[in-house]
Amino acid sequence: MLKKTAFIGLFAIMTSPLMAQDTKTPVYLDETKPVELRVKDALSRMTLEEKVAMLHAQSKFSSPGVPRLGIPEFWTTDGPHGVRPEVMWDEWDQAGWTNDSIIAYPALTALSATWNKKMSWNYGKALGEEARYRKKDILLGPGVNIYRTPLNGRNFEYMGEDPYLTSKMVVPYIKGVQSNGVATSVKHFALNNQEMFRHTSNVIVDDRALYEIYLPPFKAAVTEGDSWTIMGAYDMYKGQYASQNQYLLNDILKGEWKYKGVVVSDWGAVNDTQQAIHNSLDLEFGSWTNGLSVGTKNAYDNYYLAKPYLDLIKSGKVGTAELDDKVTRLLNLAFKTTMNTKKPFGNIASEEHKAIAKEIGEEGIVLLKNQGNVLPIDINKAKKIAVIGENAIKIMTVGGGSSSLKVKYETLPLDGIKSRFGKQSDVQYARGYVGDIGGEYNGVKSGQNLKDDRSPAELLNEAVELAKNSDYVIFVGGLNKADFQDSEGNDRKSYGLPYNQDNVISALAKANKNLAVILVSGNAVAMPWIKDVPSVVQAWYLGSEAGNSIASVLAGDANPSGKLPFTFPVKLEDNSAHQLGEYPGNKEELAAGKGKDQKNPINITYNEGILVGYRWHDTKKIKPLFSFGHGLSYTTFEFGKAKADKTAISQNDQITFTVPVKNTGKKAGAEVVQLYISDLKSSLPRPLKELKGFEKVFLNPGEEKLVSITIDKSALSYFDPEKHDWIAEPGDFEAQIGNSSDNIKTKIKFTLK
Ligand code: BGC
Repeated sequence: MLKKTAFIGLFAIMTSPLMAQDTKTPVYLDETKPVELRVKDALSRMTLEEKVAMLHAQSKFSSPGVPRLGIPEFWTTDGPHGVRPEVMWDEWDQAGWTNDSIIAYPALTALSATWNKKMSWNYGKALGEEARYRKKDILLGPGVNIYRTPLNGRNFEYMGEDPYLTSKMVVPYIKGVQSNGVATSVKHFALNNQEMFRHTSNVIVDDRALYEIYLPPFKAAVTEGDSWTIMGAYDMYKGQYASQNQYLLNDILKGEWKYKGVVVSDWGAVNDTQQAIHNSLDLEFGSWTNGLSVGTKNAYDNYYLAKPYLDLIKSGKVGTAELDDKVTRLLNLAFKTTMNTKKPFGNIASEEHKAIAKEIGEEGIVLLKNQGNVLPIDINKAKKIAVIGENAIKIMTVGGGSSSLKVKYETLPLDGIKSRFGKQSDVQYARGYVGDIGGEYNGVKSGQNLKDDRSPAELLNEAVELAKNSDYVIFVGGLNKADFQDSEGNDRKSYGLPYNQDNVISALAKANKNLAVILVSGNAVAMPWIKDVPSVVQAWYLGSEAGNSIASVLAGDANPSGKLPFTFPVKLEDNSAHQLGEYPGNKEELAAGKGKDQKNPINITYNEGILVGYRWHDTKKIKPLFSFGHGLSYTTFEFGKAKADKTAISQNDQITFTVPVKNTGKKAGAEVVQLYISDLKSSLPRPLKELKGFEKVFLNPGEEKLVSITIDKSALSYFDPEKHDWIAEPGDFEAQIGNSSDNIKTKIKFTLK
């Protein structure tokens, strides 16, 4: 029993004014209060040291919150197509967890190739759920750098060469991820269009190309998608590193686009405290590293936005306005992510996620060529199927750099084919060539032993013999995720297929006419054998469900409907960056050894300007191997005549084009209706035509649908560098509608008043 005095004492404590105040939820924690008030309240409680601490990493992938105030840490993770496995606190090495494997989704080139915004939302939502389940707050993706050259090692992580397609595809992805209370970090802002010299180059690009080609996806990501964070790039623009760049971050991102979110540096992309303070960098990661390998232990206090910043403030050399702005942005982010009590819990590897990965894979696969309808494989004729090529048996989710994954499973093409066809057909495998036998990235092992000591001739003979004795030959080759292939940190060394594959393919074409070449890559490749091979499929990196998606298209269970998000030139010199522009940098500077370190950066001038991808091929009449937007189906479609709801529009009007599309074949399928706009007369030079609308339409055999696409003057505008503004110049335009940039089916003229 309590003594009387003790009882009175307890009562006094319970009713003291201090206690009453303590139980009241502080404003910054009160989710019913307006965000501005919460931010103000939190800011007023934070010390200078706590504010500065928030601006930089505390480990490889996390940054501190405010422990004293219960504001949680931010946990970031790669990457664009799956949640990266856990690494050690201070090292890039694996932490060795056994509960961090996930579903790998198709890489972003494949997503983009679906030309289906719904798929992009599904993708983002599922990936965000996995990130959320793994307790991540910021997903380091999507990547939207424009495809400038087929040699860029990181093209597979991006969405292709067209700013409009990329912009439209990236927005639903962002919304899907963020619906989980997980932020996206759209990357790499900006002009990181190659890996070679990414830390030691300065990009020179004219304003038109900057605004018309390279910036639109980022603009869409932040203004339409509301990506809560954005990642700066490694390269320089106007002599300043992109992650601390006056022009890109202050003037464009936070100035012209009024961005209110958080600018995250790329890992190790910061190297100047004053620039980082004043040029809008909010959160610094990976300093003292080159992004992928080297690191210094416990360097965090010496980050540019750590002690050096604190010292500048304490000595009065720098004020605190920038600091409060940065912390305000981070607090806003915390309220949407870490401190958002209403966010869902996420999940990993659900049946739904697997189905989404498979469906996106199927929809993204592009049937490039199908002479004599070799595909789909006719089960009645396919008594014996030969599968040939290393990529039929190679794990592709391990490798490639920061987007490397540790997956719950990855269905290999050979296994997918066996499980789909194995019951009726005899499926035999031959390697054909040996390419990359490595299977480890950053401590994650594929578990495969791909060593094969046979000579190239032995491997080839075995493959050709098998091909001769089979009804169908499926060659699965392409690139892989090893260095100098589709991989971060380096570019490809040449445009051709590596490892003698061209010879193998040519020999197979002679051995069997029922040949389908399946290319697993995130880049275009040269195809010197194209005339001899009846069927070619671009299958990308499809993640966990790769083998199943591929088999389903080969069997015709899924009717291919993917379209190329970038041009395949016949040869490298046909690409504008290689014909007109500079790659990998200025020739004289290259010869003089520039680009070797940050003290001697190399310039890369984008002389090709706005003529990137199909814009170049079209305008200069350089026939590509396969054009942007190209992709075949197992059925046929007929486009009727396009109509417009007006013949002339004023600057504030919209105009709607409609076109009937009919499935005239025997199989259900989908077609992508692509609207290109051509400015018939312009004071500034313009590309022959530009994509300004698209719609994927699903049709049963015999079915017809009316597809309509509406545009406004933004689809007619160019960026005028003199006026520093978008101009829609009055005059005549033509809407060109087709199913590929080189297959326009119907045209219609209209006037802008
Ligand atoms: C890459 C980023 C990545 C980061 C963290 C950098 O090297 O460029 O894309 O998100 O590392 O892994």
